[in-house]
Amino acid sequence: MLLFEMRNISVKINNTNIIKNLSLTIRKGEFINIIGPSGSGKSTLLRLFNRLSSISSGEIYYCGKNLNETNPISLRKEVGYVFQKPYLFGEKAKENLEYPLSIHNIYLEKDYIFNMLRQLNLEQDILEKDCENLSGGEQQRICLLRTLMLKPKVLLLDEITSSLDPVNTKIVEEFIVNIYNEFDVTIVLVTHNIQQAKRMGKRTIFLEKGEILEDAETNSYFTGNKKEQINRFFDK
Ligand SMILES: Nc1ncnc2c1ncn2[C@@H]1O[C@H](COP(=O)(O)OP(=O)(O)O)[C@@H](O)[C@H]1O
Ligand SMILES: [Mg+2]
Repeated sequence: MLLFEMRNISVKINNTNIIKNLSLTIRKGEFINIIGPSGSGKSTLLRLFNRLSSISSGEIYYCGKNLNETNPISLRKEVGYVFQKPYLFGEKAKENLEYPLSIHNIYLEKDYIFNMLRQLNLEQDILEKDCENLSGGEQQRICLLRTLMLKPKVLLLDEITSSLDPVNTKIVEEFIVNIYNEFDVTIVLVTHNIQQAKRMGKRTIFLEKGEILEDAETNSYFTGNKKEQINRFFDK
């Protein structure tokens, strides 16, 4: 089933084309990496999927419906985003998990939270802790859990391990893979780390200057001959 379809989309900011005439389809259940140099438009592209950014031209369809005609609140319930830098609100960590549910009048399932906390290597008492006392790694894991509270159909992950140490990175990566295997979720993961891409999605899109240079199986980046810019990025 086709989940997203982007047709000849462009994003123009201050007269500069950040995304240039890009076309892309994502099927339900895919786990896709988006890689590319800093400033290539990865975050801009990712933000389009749940309308955190908007296109200047072209068309985007979500489940066959024009994305512009979707309600952003219901869209973001289904298509969740985790930002590069962890951002928590309120005083205690648990407020972050309660808030998304309260917007949608959804009952809090304690077992679901406890199961997720365990998988994220977090103790239950973290819920009562002040956000400002949490480490960066803990904050990012709570952000991830906050997005998962609404059991999204699509997870958009924007360099979510870039401020984490190797131990936390491993915990988060394994957690994401578990979520993918356990739930019926589609994942689009932005990373500038090619080794991470190898460990995560099966398909990898290489973005440069707002254009797709390559869209192929992740393994093929490590074995096949690719364009010069990609090989340079991969240090081959
Ligand atoms: N709101 C904005 N205003 C001006 N320039 C922006 C804005 N958002 C992104 N850009 C520019 O667009 C380019 C792509 O940015 P971004 O999508 O963040 O790239 P990436 O995530 O690959 O590092 C960069 O040159 C960035 O400076
Ligand atoms: Mg970015």
